[in-house]
Amino acid sequence: MRAMITAISHYVPEHVLTNADLEKMVHTSDEWITSRTGIKERRILGQNLGASYMATHAAQNVLEQRGVPARELDLIIVATVTPDMSVPSTAALIQDKLHADNCGGFDINGGCSGFLCALTTGAQFIESGRYQKVLVIGTDAMSAIIDYEDRNTCILFGDAAGAVLLEPTNNPDWGIEDFELHLDGSGAPYLCVPAGGSLQPASLDTVAKKLHYVRQDGKKVFKEAVKGMKKVVSSLLVKNGVDAQDIKLFIPHQANKRIIDAVANSLNLNSEQVYINIFKYGNTTSATIPMAMSEAYLDKMMQKGDRIILGAFGAGFTWGGVFLKWAI
Ligand code: COA
Repeated sequence: MRAMITAISHYVPEHVLTNADLEKMVHTSDEWITSRTGIKERRILGQNLGASYMATHAAQNVLEQRGVPARELDLIIVATVTPDMSVPSTAALIQDKLHADNCGGFDINGGCSGFLCALTTGAQFIESGRYQKVLVIGTDAMSAIIDYEDRNTCILFGDAAGAVLLEPTNNPDWGIEDFELHLDGSGAPYLCVPAGGSLQPASLDTVAKKLHYVRQDGKKVFKEAVKGMKKVVSSLLVKNGVDAQDIKLFIPHQANKRIIDAVANSLNLNSEQVYINIFKYGNTTSATIPMAMSEAYLDKMMQKGDRIILGAFGAGFTWGGVFLKWAI
């Protein structure tokens, strides 16, 4: 038994924040942002909506696409670093909005690798034979934890959600073949939101010091991201006896176009084999991979049986990859 993706969708808020808009907010330029990151614009969620709002839209699309009523879901797994609240889980809020009255669920924080953590977790419930329908969502309202006075970070991130339905199959030409997940917590200081957890609860002082916003050492994260993603993807290729030319599409986490290009070049993948949509959305953390997969599917870039590689790197540090055969 293996797990396959049987439906996929995504949701982005309507409001667009362009590089020209950012030029009016911080000392930056469209030229700098485009050449250093590949990003032209990103979407921003309205206030008082939360990550569950975007996730519920993406999830509803997925259920509709597959013709599955929400009450048939066995499990909802949500990857997010921007939960609506720290308690309860965002999965619980989505369950209620979907009226998915017969399922379990929980959140996963795997940084920018969160969706791959959630996808591979969901796959285990299917492969064990325990569950038949697992909804896996990546959703992040990064605008909630970004300082729009900090040009080092505010140009990079955006808001979005993506969702997939996992179901079982016995067909070896479809579904998740293999994966790897990695974690190195010595990377924690290089990409974090210092306050708001149990270590530094919210206080007037933490707010005054802007400790509730993303802090990162961009150069360090860049280097480690290229190294980690390259290593995990080549390991998956070697382990599964697959040549780079046999991959239909490499769908990487979208953090920086230069990171993606460096990884793709080192793996000898040509540009048609690499899916990039960062110019439209920036880095939407847990949502980048399901959203990119969803857009590639809508663009008819994948056929049933095609070999697909997903790769991610993020806060933790976390990194991982998934090798799958497309099934829809
Ligand atoms: N506009 C103009 N100048 C900017 C800027 C901006 N938005 N942001 C930073 N700069 C400045 C810096 O202050 C620095 O100036 P200085 O030399 O006077 O100190 C200069 O540009 C060069 O910065 P540098 O850090 O060398 O740029 P870079 O080429 O490394 O690009 C990032 C910076 C953040 C785009 C890049 O490091 C990156 O993408 N890192 C990975 C981040 C990431 O993906 N995080 C998510 C987790 S997966």
